[in-house]
Amino acid sequence: MNIKSNQAIGVFDSGIGGLTVVRSLMERLPFENIIYFGDTARVPYGIKSVETINHYALQITEFLLRKEVKMLVVACNTMAAVAYQAIKDLSPVPVMEVIEASARNAVSETTTKSIGVIGTPATINSNAYARAIHLLDRDAKVYSQACPLFVPLVEEGWFDHPATRLIAQEYLKPVLAEHIDSLVLGCTHYPLLKSLLKEIAGKKIKLIDSAEAMAAATADLLNQLNLGNADRRPPKYLFCVSDLPYRFQTIGERFLGRTLGQVELVRL
Ligand code: DGL
Repeated sequence: MNIKSNQAIGVFDSGIGGLTVVRSLMERLPFENIIYFGDTARVPYGIKSVETINHYALQITEFLLRKEVKMLVVACNTMAAVAYQAIKDLSPVPVMEVIEASARNAVSETTTKSIGVIGTPATINSNAYARAIHLLDRDAKVYSQACPLFVPLVEEGWFDHPATRLIAQEYLKPVLAEHIDSLVLGCTHYPLLKSLLKEIAGKKIKLIDSAEAMAAATADLLNQLNLGNADRRPPKYLFCVSDLPYRFQTIGERFLGRTLGQVELVRL
């Protein structure tokens, strides 16, 4: 397959949260064209079965491949945890996923080798983070916690609401009791709770932001494959969603910290 460097990067997520990864990609790779797909009709994925998540993930992969992307970036931790292999098997272009990048970051940041991981129930139940961390360091101890209420709270824009604070304190209690020194934010939505989580976790615990880790790993891979866009013109961004494009646009601009332009409605 002949991949051209000016083809777009295809980023996908179960909904709006993957825009945190897009934001990091835009900052890190300012000349890359990006096509984003958010499955707003079927979000959240994090509380669905492995079979359903796989089925949806492959439909999105097919859609982005039809758009002739040069690389796929699975921004959604839940899809990466459950469906990465299936996506890779289907894709003729390189596939980046968020879990390895974050695990690598966590292992390099920890000094005590006690690492906390928070994510959706599907991500935590898959054990994908613990596996990825143990592949890099067999002695690391991983303490995981599913935080199912975080996604709706973030979708609501309650980044620093007293209710969010209370729920976060409850969720973090067991992992903090294990004296972790780093905490992986293993979900697209959690970087938006970063300052609140930082306050609760305390200064000594490093928060591993999966969006930043993902952008750094994508930049490395593009370099390695010599696929970075050499074109220095302003890049093109296309946002596609499966439902409610106007809502995506309004909330998405908060996630992205800039205007989104046109959002296309796509039925898979
Ligand atoms: N994108 C999902 C993740 O990163 C969170 C939202 C969902 O549950 O679909 O795990």
